[in-house]
This record gives sequence, structure tokens and C-alpha cells, in this order.
Amino acid sequence: MPMCGIVGYVGPRDVSTVVLAGLSRLEYRGYDSAGMAVSGENGIERSREVGKVADLVRMLEANPLKGKQGIGHTRWATHGGVTVENAHPHCNSSSSVVLVHNGIIENYTELRESLLSEGVTFSSQTDTEVAAQLLGKIYSGDPKQALIELYRRITGAFALAVMFADDDDHIYCIRKGSPLIVALGDGETLCASDVPAVLEYTRRIVYMGEGEMACLSREGASFWDSEGNPLDKDVVEVDWDLSMVEKGGYPHFMLKEINEQGAVMRQTLTGRTEGEQVDLSKELSWTADWARSIKRVHLVACGTSFYAASVAERVIGLFTDLDVRVDIASEYRYRSIPIGEDTLAVFVSQSGETLDTLAAERFAKEKGARCLAITNNGLSSIAREVDDVLLLKAGPEIGVAATKTFTGQMAVLYLMALYLAKLRGSLKETDEQRLLREMTSMPYKIEALLENSDTVKLMAEKYSLARDFLFLGRGFSFPIALEGALKLKEISYIHAEAYAAGEMKHGPIALLDRAVPVVVVMPDDELWEKTLSNVQETKARKSPVIAITTVGRESYLKDVEDLLSVPATEPELTPFLTVIPLQMFAYYVALARGTEIDQPRNLAKSVTVE
Ligand code: M6R
Repeated sequence: MPMCGIVGYVGPRDVSTVVLAGLSRLEYRGYDSAGMAVSGENGIERSREVGKVADLVRMLEANPLKGKQGIGHTRWATHGGVTVENAHPHCNSSSSVVLVHNGIIENYTELRESLLSEGVTFSSQTDTEVAAQLLGKIYSGDPKQALIELYRRITGAFALAVMFADDDDHIYCIRKGSPLIVALGDGETLCASDVPAVLEYTRRIVYMGEGEMACLSREGASFWDSEGNPLDKDVVEVDWDLSMVEKGGYPHFMLKEINEQGAVMRQTLTGRTEGEQVDLSKELSWTADWARSIKRVHLVACGTSFYAASVAERVIGLFTDLDVRVDIASEYRYRSIPIGEDTLAVFVSQSGETLDTLAAERFAKEKGARCLAITNNGLSSIAREVDDVLLLKAGPEIGVAATKTFTGQMAVLYLMALYLAKLRGSLKETDEQRLLREMTSMPYKIEALLENSDTVKLMAEKYSLARDFLFLGRGFSFPIALEGALKLKEISYIHAEAYAAGEMKHGPIALLDRAVPVVVVMPDDELWEKTLSNVQETKARKSPVIAITTVGRESYLKDVEDLLSVPATEPELTPFLTVIPLQMFAYYVALARGTEIDQPRNLAKSVTVE
């Protein structure tokens, strides 16, 4: 399961209420089906439903579950279709064991065959039931030993929360590959895939590490490693509060997060700039000698993070003579390219949990590269494995479609690029001052743009019935065109493709007619006129053009159907502004089409399978 959300609760409150509230806060992780199990006087009882957590809530209102403790799950299907039988929690045949799982058990086929040959019958097609059946076979009264043995026998990535029918005072957890936290309250203890699920009860969090296991009771939690050695874990006091994971009056998290981008930019710059100088020395272990010694920079990421990295590739190219390249994380390991001690490898990941990116990081590290993570989660798997971390400071992003973290990623990447160039001695002071001055005023420009949302809304409504869109951009605007198309695809389900504007004539132009709107990202920069030619080519094929340009350029675009202007800025910084109307456009198109904006079909917030 790429993502899935897990919650467990042991304590005096109504178990169903706590587990269901936690699942709702984790629903961004998957939402094909949901389920929960409790254990108490009646042994283990379980309810599962296809659909959203709200569907499970309705089912439980009719048939409540009462118990002393409970575990719950919201699913993003991989092994086995979206059915009640495949929904979690899964039990073994005698229901002596029940568990929820996030991740993939890679050797499940051979385990399933061996269990079948021993006479076990399965009631689902999932890899998870294999773990439940196997644990049922292994368990003989000692949960700790059973979990250690289970850990030894299953491979892949998994976070598991487990209850045993003969023990209604403890929930057990195992973590390998997929994230899992334990939250320590006052007379109550929780486990969850992510912090928002527990914030209502406590901010005292233990991040479980690789190969670690835990036993949760009302009194707290104990931890041990895969050999059974006890672990003394640090308790972290998280500084998030509940309002950060609530909608705050907005109809959708995505709209809230789009509107937070000015604040994110401000937050990102805080403590990293001194006057008009960039200073990351408090966060990075880089020295000038090291910076001068490297030959290449690899930027590696997936999805929206890949587009932020693609913008950064251009920035680093502008200010250094380094050999810089950007790679999609799932491709990076399969290329034959030089990587070594002379390589800075930068992994950009909002969640810090994307398995493709994590695997790429491990690969680069093994080759001797110095690894940097740019992430919104400083305690994530990627953050914990790299040499250096730069945090986005964007606050939790709940909408599945990334928006504010894209802005945060670009801001951190720009600072990183400038700092690297400065350490290498290739950054002109005038460029540093010019760009930092402009970055400091960027939040105001972003906020001014956001006030214009009515125009974007009307435009979005006008085009909301289109079946296909083309997005074009050159230079810094090419990754923005890609991001604009991705946003539209993700939440409105309209087919949208992005091309480097100069590529249109090499093929995609064949698609153009009056039914295919073309969004052209063309801020005022040195490529503006070339892109203007592409607008003319598009107009000649009768496609409606929606141009995103800079204030002052409108008079050249009188014959385009629709126009959105962004404030003027330095040419290298246009992505911070041009992306905003594209995010809003996608949002309002989706709103007009009535799609599930915060939880688009088939997607999950971070993808923890390859
Ligand atoms: O957590 P990450 O930044 O590593 O996630 C990468 C992609 O999965 C993510 O950006 C995805 O493309 C989003 N749905 C974009 O909106």
C-alpha cells in the first residue's frame, strides 16, 4: 500500500470515537475503504466498509463497537481490489490476532502458498492477511517473541499495529520502511502513521525507527529492536497544533494551503538570510573547501517535487559551473552516470517518505555522494538517512495535491543554490542582493495575486467542460507548465499535457483545435518573444489560449481568449508567481466539476512503494 493510514488507541476514552477521528485526519493517505477493530469483553470485534471514513462512521452508528482498545485503517488498495474482504483490519482464521498494515509484504506469495499447504484458508487477496495468518501460527502466548519472529519472516516495507484476542490491554507495533509514531498521552497511548491523527490528545511523540517494535498500554509504551533488546527512545514535543490540521474556514485543505503560500515563503526565509545575504551555515555542514571540490549536483525527486527540482536545476546552472542534472527518483538508480564523492545529491520530498526517492538516496549514498534532503518532515525516513537536511517549514500539508510545499521547496532550493554558489565563490554579490531582496518581497506579491481569485474562478468555470488541455512554457516556465498540468490532472481528472513551448511544433500541435484550450506560461523574461510565437501558432489552429503573463505585457496579447497577469519580478523568480494562478485554476476547475478536491481518486499523499 503506497500509503494507508493506521491508528491505534488504548485508554479511557470511547475507543471508536478516537480511532475514527484519527482515521479522518489520516484520510489523505488513502481512502478506498476503511475499517476498525476493538478488543474488550467480547473479544475482538471488527467493522469494515468500502468508501470513505464517513461511510465507516455511518456503519458504526448503526452497529457500534465497544472495547478497551482499538486499531483502525484507511486503505489505498494495491494487493486485491476495493472490497470489504480486502479492507483492514485483517484477522487470522481463528480471530486470535487482528492487525492493520501500511506497506507491502514482498514475499507474500510464497508465504501464502506455504500457509495454504498447511491448510490455512484465506478470506482476502491481500498481502496483509498473510501477515495476520502467519502471526496467528507463530503466536503462542508471547507477543514480543511472536513479533520478532514475524519480522524475521516477512520482507518488504511495513508498519503494523496488532492486537491479540487474549490481551485487551496492549497494542503492539512493528515498523520497517513505512512510517509509524507512538503518541504518549496522560493515561492513554496512541500509535499512528502520522502526527495529525494524535494532535487532539497529545504532542508527545516517539518516532519509531527501522526494525523497531513497541508495546502500548494506558501507562505508556516500551520499545525493543528486532533482536529483542530494549530501546530507550527519545520523546519529541511537536510544535504543530490542531488548527494547523483543520480547514480554518476554507471549504478545502487545498484552498487553505494555496492561500498559505505567502506565509510559507516568509517562514522559509526566516533565519536563513541576513540582510541581503544567504546563510545556511547553521543547518548545513558544508565548507567552502568541500563546495569547491565537487563537480556535480544531482537533484532527485518525484511528481511535484521533481518539478521544483527542475526549477532548481536551472538556478544552479545560472550561478555555478557545476554539472547539474535532475532525475525522476524511480529512474535514477537505473542510469549509468557518474556518481561519487564529487557529487552533491539533493533529494526533494515533501513527505520524506516516498520510497522511490528513499531508494535513490540509498543508492547515491552507497556510491559516496554527499546527500541533502529537502523535506517538510525532519523526522522522515529520508531526512534521517542523509548527511544534511533543509526543512521547508511549510506546516502540515493535508490536500493530496501539493501546493504550498511546492513553493516551500522552490524557496529552499533557491537559497541552497545561492549558498552553494557563494561557497564556491561563483555568486556575484549583486546577484545575491538582487535575488534576496526580491525573495523577501515575494510573499506580498503572492498574497496580492491570491486576492485575484475571482477572475481565475470565472475562467475555470468557462473551461471546466474541456476534455483535454495543453500547457506550454519555456525555460523557468517549462517546469511550471508541467506542474500546472499535473495539478489539473490530479484533481479535475481532465487530460492535460505539458510541453516545452518550442516542442509543440514537433508533434503536439497535431492535437490542437478549438476544443483544446492551451495554457501558455509566459512571464516577462528573455524567452517571452519566442513563446509569443508559439501563441500565434496556437491561435492559427483555433485553440483558445489562456496566457499567464506579467503585468505590463497584456497589450501584446490582445487576441488571446483569456489572460492572467502576475506581478513583475526578477526573471529567475517568476516560478513563484506563475504557479499560483495555475494552482487556483486547477482548484476552481475541479470545484466546477464537483470532484473530490482534497482526496482525488487513486492518489495518496505519499507513495511508499516502488
Ligand atoms: O512526498 P513527495 O514530495 O516525495 O511526493 C512526491 C509526489 O508523490 C507528489 O509530489 C505527488 O506528485 C503529488 N500528488 C503532487 O500533487
